[in-house]
Amino acid sequence: MKAVRKAVLPVAGLGTRFLPATKCMPKEMLPIVDKPLIQYAIEEAQAAGIASIMLITGRGKNLMEDHFDHAFELERTLELRGRLKELEIVRQFPEPSTIKYTRQQQALGLGHAIWCARDFVNDDPFAVILPDDMVLAERGCLSQMMDAYNDVGGNIVAVTEVPREHTNRYGILDVESDDGRLAKARGLVEKPDPADAPSTLSIIGRYILQPGVFAHLDKKQAGAGGEIQLTDAIAETLDSTPFHGLRYEGRRFDCGSKSGFIAANVAYALEREDMASDVRLALSEIMD
Ligand code: G1P
Repeated sequence: MKAVRKAVLPVAGLGTRFLPATKCMPKEMLPIVDKPLIQYAIEEAQAAGIASIMLITGRGKNLMEDHFDHAFELERTLELRGRLKELEIVRQFPEPSTIKYTRQQQALGLGHAIWCARDFVNDDPFAVILPDDMVLAERGCLSQMMDAYNDVGGNIVAVTEVPREHTNRYGILDVESDDGRLAKARGLVEKPDPADAPSTLSIIGRYILQPGVFAHLDKKQAGAGGEIQLTDAIAETLDSTPFHGLRYEGRRFDCGSKSGFIAANVAYALEREDMASDVRLALSEIMD
């Protein structure tokens, strides 16, 4: 089985739910505590053994390229002031050529965004991380998926149970067998109505995929919501490629929603030794 060494991160979305904050700033640059969402995603990929990452960007997303580069004036100033800890923090970014960028020139859906990475992926298995979805876990969500991949191969998605009334927000698995950790699926459907959903096991933004999905994405067929769906491309490979959902360990935050974003900030802050007690105190004062 080929090892997974590449990851694709779609970051072209407009972030309309966070206007006006995202008028000029990519939503992926919104911070959880003091680090932008995109940096968490890249660190999770690297921790899982990913060597090469492609960001699928769009207009107005250049700030992310700057973020993963030297900031000469800042570094020089920190150096002169002897602020070595901060200097180390701003120099933490991947080596040149580890991150590549391409633009999704039209907003045609997640499947189309992934299709934009077809030459980068080539014939290799690859991971997909949607940076909006954060998983607070001891072992990164993608690393947990790599463990599962080494056992079963094929296509794997991270899954969680959702209330039935929310199935129309997610890709939903049609489960064939389930050992409580890994669910083998015979189908998947994008954002089904609660009444039609084959289960309540929903995909969150982590995938390990075989390059076979591109055969379907190449056809550019629109699915749910009139968008080209990654879910449909995975469904098309079910005959030839095993497909599993992994119930990861950890807490997922939907940082594409304001309440999820705020909850993530609180949860990540409470994990930080340097801040937990101050944050706890501040929260208790607010709640009183
Ligand atoms: C996308 C996928 C969906 C998945 C979700 C996870 O939907 O199409 O299958 O469940 O991400 O966050 P989106 O949230 O982009 O509409």
